[in-house]
Amino acid sequence: MATHAFKINRYNPDDERRGHYMQEYPLDVQKGWTILDCLNEIKWKQDGSLTFRRSCRSGICGSCAMTVNGVNMLACETQALTLKSSTIVVEPLRGYPVIKDLVVDLEPLVESLYAVKPYLITKTPLPTDQERFQSPEERAKIDGLYECILCGACTSSCPSFWADKKYIGPHGFLKAYRFVADSRDEGTREHLEALDDKHGLWRCHTIFNCVEACPKDLNPTKAISELKKELVREKIG
Ligand code: F3S
Repeated sequence: MATHAFKINRYNPDDERRGHYMQEYPLDVQKGWTILDCLNEIKWKQDGSLTFRRSCRSGICGSCAMTVNGVNMLACETQALTLKSSTIVVEPLRGYPVIKDLVVDLEPLVESLYAVKPYLITKTPLPTDQERFQSPEERAKIDGLYECILCGACTSSCPSFWADKKYIGPHGFLKAYRFVADSRDEGTREHLEALDDKHGLWRCHTIFNCVEACPKDLNPTKAISELKKELVREKIG
């Protein structure tokens, strides 16, 4: 057990005059505790007003994405002692409006997701057996794409998003490519439509922050480069 200082961003929309400030909480961190366990300990035993999102505690729902010691991560997947620092600074994801303390408004993330039509588009009738089959090789092409949990860690780490709040962002690009790469999908043009825009693919400057930030070890930058090739193919026929 080791005593840590948790410096946590506080913000209460009902106290605009105070604005954002950091509040420090001491905590005896036990082996195996995640950042989420620590936040729960603080909330349950020190300060019930501390506000953060959490749900599955298993790295599946993406609710607890936040910035810890300057790095975007899932609080439920990160053990506090692995950070090797006795001071742990916890902030909301950058680039999104803060609703309260560590809770951000992810509406922009959802809006840009809708823009890429994140669903299977088909135009031909279903085969008589009622299923659209894929070979194992075709199925393998969406590995590394379908696993995105939409936590927002990638887009929040991207300087292009900081500069342009309408930028679709790596989460949207990865999702678009998940369907473009799917052999059953017949709507490449529809998925690409929103990407050929000043808020789309061409605003990506290959900064790679999104790759580092992804808690699922996915590679949005690779998806972006594949989408750029698809877009050029579409344009020159
Ligand atoms: Fe941003 Fe990733 Fe491109 S960090 S600029 S989307 S490579």
